[in-house]
Amino acid sequence: MVHSVRRIRKVHENLDELSRGVAEESVNRIKTSLHRRKICSLVLAGGNTPQPFYHLLVTDYADQIPWEYVHFFWGDERFVPHHHQQSNYRMVHESLLKPLSIPERNIHAMPTNHPTVVDCAQAYEDHLQSEFRTEFPVFDLVVLGMGADGHTASLFPETDALQEQENWVCASEAPDPPRERITLTYPVLNNARNVFFMVSGERKAEAVRNAFQEENSRNACPAAFIRPEKGPVVWWLDRPAAAKLSE
Ligand code: 6PG
Repeated sequence: MVHSVRRIRKVHENLDELSRGVAEESVNRIKTSLHRRKICSLVLAGGNTPQPFYHLLVTDYADQIPWEYVHFFWGDERFVPHHHQQSNYRMVHESLLKPLSIPERNIHAMPTNHPTVVDCAQAYEDHLQSEFRTEFPVFDLVVLGMGADGHTASLFPETDALQEQENWVCASEAPDPPRERITLTYPVLNNARNVFFMVSGERKAEAVRNAFQEENSRNACPAAFIRPEKGPVVWWLDRPAAAKLSE
C-alpha cells in the first residue's frame, strides 16, 4: 500500500530567514522530545544549505537546550576520511558539535575508516542496532537537504539504494565525486517522528515541484518518497526554491 504523505511547506524570503525558522522549530521539537523521553536523537544533513542553521543553533540557542541529552547522527556521509574537506562529519563537527562542546558519546558519526564503503555501511548499521535495539530506529528529528536532481541524503536517482527496504544503512553512489557514499535508507528515514527538508535556491525549484507531485517514480525524485508515517514532512523553502510550486 502506498502511504500518502502530508507535506507542509514553509516559504521564507531567503536562506537566512529560512534558517531562523528551522532553528526555532527544531529547538521546539528537541524540547518536546526531551520533555517526553529525556533524550533526543537528531539526524543531520551535509552539504551547504544547513550550515547557517547549524551556526544559529550555536549563536542563538546554545543555552536553551541541555545538549548533553541530545544525540547526533548523520543522514549520509561521503567515503572520505573525517578530516577531509568534503566530509559531512567534519562540516557538522566544525560548525555545530565542537562549538557546543557536544560530548563524544553523543556523536554517532558514520565511520569511513573501514576497507570498503559497504563495510562502513554495515558498521553503522551495527552501531544503530546497538543504540536502538528496536525493529527500526525512531529518530526524533531528521533534517534533510535535496539536490537539483531530487536526491536526498545519498539516495540518488538510478541507484540500488532507492530499493533498499531491509537494511537501515547502505552504500550508495553519487554522480559527482566523492562518488562512494553511505546513506540511511527509506525505511529508517520514514520512521522518524519529525522530518524537515531545507531547500534553497532557484536551481532546485524544478526538483521541489517534482517532490510535491504525487505521481512520480523514485528515480524521478527520490526526495518525493520521504513519506514519514508518524507525522508530516515539513519543507522549509526559500522563495526561489518554491518558485515553481502552485499556490
Ligand atoms: C550531502 C548531503 C546531500 C545534500 C544535498 C544538497 O552529502 O551532500 O547530505 O544530500 O543535502 O546534496 O546539498 P546542498 O545543501 O549543498 O545544496
